[in-house]
Order: sequence, then C-alpha cells, then structure tokens
Amino acid sequence: MDAMQVLINRRSIRRFKPEQIKDEDLKQILEAGEYAPTAKGLQSPFFIAVQDKADIATINDLSRQIMGRDFPSPYYGAPTLILVFYDRGITNDEFGVLDASSAITNMLNAAYALGLGSCWIHRCHQMFEMEEGKALLKKWGIKEDLIGVASLAVGYSDQEQPKPRPRKENFYKIVK
Ligand SMILES: Cc1cc2nc3c(=O)[nH]c(=O)nc-3n(C[C@H](O)[C@H](O)[C@H](O)COP(=O)(O)O)c2cc1C
Repeated sequence: MDAMQVLINRRSIRRFKPEQIKDEDLKQILEAGEYAPTAKGLQSPFFIAVQDKADIATINDLSRQIMGRDFPSPYYGAPTLILVFYDRGITNDEFGVLDASSAITNMLNAAYALGLGSCWIHRCHQMFEMEEGKALLKKWGIKEDLIGVASLAVGYSDQEQPKPRPRKENFYKIVK
C-alpha cells in the first residue's frame, strides 16, 4: 500500500475476528516499532506481544479495574495485544513516553499496511504499577523496571473501515 494512503486511511478498529494473526505479520509490526525514531537514537522501547488467551483475559481484567467500571472488553476481543514499555535504564521518563508513542504509531500504521486492524489502548502505565501487572512481567521472565506506556489491540478487523472525523481547520501554518 502507498505510504501516504496508509497514514491517511488507518483508523482505530474496535471489533476483531477471533482468528489469530500470522506470525510473520506480527514480526513485521514489531519490526516497524523497532525502527521508529527514538530520542538520541537510544531505542528505549520494549514490546511484549501477548497471544495467550488467559493472559489476555487478565490484562482485560486489570484494564477494567483501572477504569473502575465493567467495560465489557477494553481490548475489543483482539487476539494479539502488544504492550509497549520503555526501559528506565536507557532513557528518562519524558523521552521514554515519547519514544514509546513513536513506536506505537509506527506499529498501528504497519498493521494497517498489512491488512490488519488495530487500536491504541491506554492504561498500560497503571497496569504495570499494580502487583498483578508486575506478577505478569515476572511470569514472562521480564525485568520489572520497565515502565508501561500504552498498548495495541491487533487482529483481523470485523467491522467496516471507519471514516475519519473531519480534520479541524487551521491544523497547521506554513511559514516562509
Ligand atoms: C494517547 C491515546 C490513547 C488512546 N486510548 C484509547 C483507549 O484506551 N481505547 C480506545 O478504544 N481508543 C484509544 N485511543 C484511540 C483514539 O480514540 C483514536 O485514535 C481516535 O479516536 C481517532 O480515531 P482513529 O484512530 O480512527 O483516527 C487512544 C489514542 C491515543 C493517541
């Protein structure tokens, strides 16, 4: 797909088919995240792709707890979640959040380019400050000083491609 078409037409998808995505597509999405720009080129982000159904259920539960309401499926039934962290041993909190956001955006666009649906999902920061979140990291054999930023729900879209909201006026100014 043409790069500009991907950037303009990607939309958040909030209904997924249960079918799992292909491993090669997942790896390409993660690779797109690896190549996103990072402050000072320090490559502070770290990604955890979760496809285990029980772990996905736990993550949905934690997300609901953080929201404080019984939202049926904070990750919209997506079969793959990509949790995005930064490593405080590599960068500071300001750059870490920016680096992770940069990687997430690349991955959302890569997913769309590969014919997949995705959605940016919040609440990762609080989730991995909770004991249950830290326990997941421990179970996965991942060091606990990673700071969660956000996550992606990824899968085959089970909805019509949404139309974008009209863009606000005066989004930019070109100064010559
Ligand atoms: C920082 C940030 C947090 C977001 N958190 C959520 C979320 O928790 N749940 C959700 O469904 N969408 C979330 N989104 C997706 C936005 O709602 C979505 O990008 C926006 O409505 C524009 O729609 P589009 O992505 O289709 O262009 C988030 C997006 C960003 C950038």
